[in-house]
Amino acid sequence: MSKQTDDFFKNIISHAKEYGFVFPSSEIYDGLSAVYDYGQMGSELKNNLKTYWWKSMVQLNENIVGIDAAIFMHPTTWKASGHVDGFNDPMIDNKDSKKRYRADQLIEDKIDRYEKDGKTDKATRLQKDLDDAITADDLVRLKAIIEEHHIVCPISGTKNWTDVRQFNLMFATQMGAMAEEAEKVYLRPETAQGIFVNFLNVQKTGRMKIPFGIAQIGKAFRNEVIARQFIMRMREFEQMELQFFIRPGTEMEWYEKWKATRLKWHLALGADATKYRYHDHVKPAHYANAAVDIEYQFPFGFKEVEGIHSRTDFDLKQHQEYSKKKIQYFDPEINQNYVPYVVETSIGLDRLFLTVLANSLVEEDLSTEEKKDSRVVLKFHPAIAPVKAAVLPLTKKDGLPDKAREIMTKLKLDFNIQYDEKDAIGKRYRRQDAIGTPFCITVDYQTLEDNTVTIRHRDSMEQERVPAADLRNIIGELVSWNNLLEQLM
Ligand code: GAP
Repeated sequence: MSKQTDDFFKNIISHAKEYGFVFPSSEIYDGLSAVYDYGQMGSELKNNLKTYWWKSMVQLNENIVGIDAAIFMHPTTWKASGHVDGFNDPMIDNKDSKKRYRADQLIEDKIDRYEKDGKTDKATRLQKDLDDAITADDLVRLKAIIEEHHIVCPISGTKNWTDVRQFNLMFATQMGAMAEEAEKVYLRPETAQGIFVNFLNVQKTGRMKIPFGIAQIGKAFRNEVIARQFIMRMREFEQMELQFFIRPGTEMEWYEKWKATRLKWHLALGADATKYRYHDHVKPAHYANAAVDIEYQFPFGFKEVEGIHSRTDFDLKQHQEYSKKKIQYFDPEINQNYVPYVVETSIGLDRLFLTVLANSLVEEDLSTEEKKDSRVVLKFHPAIAPVKAAVLPLTKKDGLPDKAREIMTKLKLDFNIQYDEKDAIGKRYRRQDAIGTPFCITVDYQTLEDNTVTIRHRDSMEQERVPAADLRNIIGELVSWNNLLEQLM
């Protein structure tokens, strides 16, 4: 990371904390590694991102329905899905620092370093070596690559490495109070399995016809060994997943369709298209025959935000085999029973949250010849802004607060509104800019006479005088979900 991008990333983290978006978990006890809490602004933003996803999936598509499955599932679920045996990362320990690393990430960091130093050929060759070793599941080769490229431990600076070993990422716990009756259960590492095991329930009770989808938003847990880059890689995080059930043989058509649909969804939020790219997997996960990531250009480089997988009939067939229950669909159009194929879209809500912060945080220089000035603004798309408008009485006296509260009381039925009477008006505008509020409504002496207010627009900072009675329409038009959803139609 260059100094400039490093500073920008640090700014995002400190801004997120200072304005109540994200706090380290249990901070009074010095935090818990790779676990974060969302504050008063963060949880509003997160809820809005969930609403955008849910509306775009469930509300806009008559053949997609949503569910909310439990985090705990029967332990055989994870045997059937392949997670007990195959959900591993290749890990290597440094014997001097006693620190553990993901072997592939150490190598990827080296590739980044070669690229930054202009050694493009070396970077390309190393990427190919890494891809070959990962595809072949060759742990010995991974260690050899680390040694050949003189990769050292960032803490000890030595090359005193152990062999590369596989490390399972699932958290396990016990269910049942008595030791003798306790059963080992896992905290789900993906929400997808809650959908697969409910395939028949939903298909039958909803009378769903293929192609159809089941969507879900929920927590997932992974014992990530290398947890870094703020909310990018957490041990407890949230996923928004769609499993789209289709006729076998049509999967590549649906895979391409969902790839395009999902990128469009991201771009509708207003990000520059050059900040997104697709990255095809060289070695798709054990359940997929094709996989691509949608990557966003974070300050620390392009990284995965969402994965799209063609999961074939792997999961349903596995559950059919392990549960001994027939999981099939009768397709009346071709008069055949089959186990449906699946195309999955899976987005990490926390990573999406980070893209939105990175994309919206702007520091603007407002200096004039007379004085230096600047402001920090979160230029969120208005539909996802945590607070839609702030109502600000010009002074704390002469009945202005009462009038402001009267206006606020009407607006809060429709929108999340803040009231603020502390400090000079300019300072209050800045506070609202910093949390991304699209409108500031100022109540002044003229309001008492003619019931008009000034409304200030966050991005242009322009102010206009409007009747208080028009506020609901003015705000409603700009913050409407339609502005996002219409772009997807
Ligand atoms: N059901 C498929 C699945 O779970 P994945 O690529 O492992 O696929 C999907 O995860 C998405 O979940 C990723 O694109 C990422 O946004 C998010 N994600 C995965 N691990 C994460 C972690 N440790 N912290 C935050 N988000 C994570």
